[in-house]
Amino acid sequence: MNSLTLRTPDDWHLHFRDGDMLQETVPATARCFKRAIVMPNLTPPVVNAELATAYEQRILSARPEGSDFSPLMTIYLTDNTTPEVVRAAKEAGVIAAKLYPAGATTNSDSGVTALSNLDATLEAMADIGMLLLVHGEVTSPDIDIFDREKAFIDSHLKAITTNFPKLKVVLEHITTKDSTDFVMAASENVAATITPQHLLLNRNDLLVGGIKPHNYCLPVLKRNTHQAALRAAVASGTHKIFLGTDSAPHEKHKKESACGCAGCYSAWSAIELYAQVFEDLGVLDKLEAFASEHGPKFYGLPLNEGTIELVNESWQIPENIALPNGDNIVPFFGGQTINWKLKP
Ligand code: NCD
Ligand code: ZN
Repeated sequence: MNSLTLRTPDDWHLHFRDGDMLQETVPATARCFKRAIVMPNLTPPVVNAELATAYEQRILSARPEGSDFSPLMTIYLTDNTTPEVVRAAKEAGVIAAKLYPAGATTNSDSGVTALSNLDATLEAMADIGMLLLVHGEVTSPDIDIFDREKAFIDSHLKAITTNFPKLKVVLEHITTKDSTDFVMAASENVAATITPQHLLLNRNDLLVGGIKPHNYCLPVLKRNTHQAALRAAVASGTHKIFLGTDSAPHEKHKKESACGCAGCYSAWSAIELYAQVFEDLGVLDKLEAFASEHGPKFYGLPLNEGTIELVNESWQIPENIALPNGDNIVPFFGGQTINWKLKP
């Protein structure tokens, strides 16, 4: 197959950051995605309607000339997110709220310390149709980092989905067989996103032959049996799993550091990397539904009208991207060759 035409896809989980960085990140995503769910983990976090609306305007201003890209805004749940806060956010067009267990990942210090603080808020979200997006990892120091996703499902997510059956929940960036099993067995109100890195890599790609900081993200890459389960899940074509890159830029010096940041900046090659995975799995025919249909159907949004074209042409992902502030980012898979390329 030499070319592949897809309904224009959306990215159901990414980090744009703020300020100057938007000049880099917004065009990178808008080159092929029509919409993206924008994560609220800025410093300080986007915790209410007012902050979300102001952030949305900054993103819209960073769109390239002529782009019709639409950010889909989220707010960040804290111990103080009241039902009134989520109702006001919904009225302002915010479609989801993100749960970061406090301390789980980049800029999550203001996250939720005890889920029991949020019962009334989750009830209100279920009532008004606001989705709950979950970073599914526990943070207790006695739980091994490779077990934190499973522990979150067992100790929190099962209770959330049982106690709030009407709440729509997306378990973001799943990394384990435990998560695919959980999502597949859960109700129609539970879905998941998967990143390119968790489909392409396993923890050997992080740790064997020297530590690879640009493959470090959270939840951390898992063993190859989990990677195989994620690949099998997308190959099955299930409507419960859809595209969410978790593209999460950090400057090169913050990744290549004695205490390196978590996050892979995949926006410049995201759809192409997914195409490569689906080709490797022999299921290119299932890419369009994963990238462009399952997500909007779960969120209750219309499918995009336009199309993109991918051509079967080898190209090398750049090793470095210069930022407007003079800093640099090493993109995910930088320097590697991939087989599919978005036709401009
Ligand atoms: C994300 C970031 O840098 O904001 N990092 C990551 O490794 N995925 C946060 C997140 O989604 O966990
Ligand atoms: Zn993320």
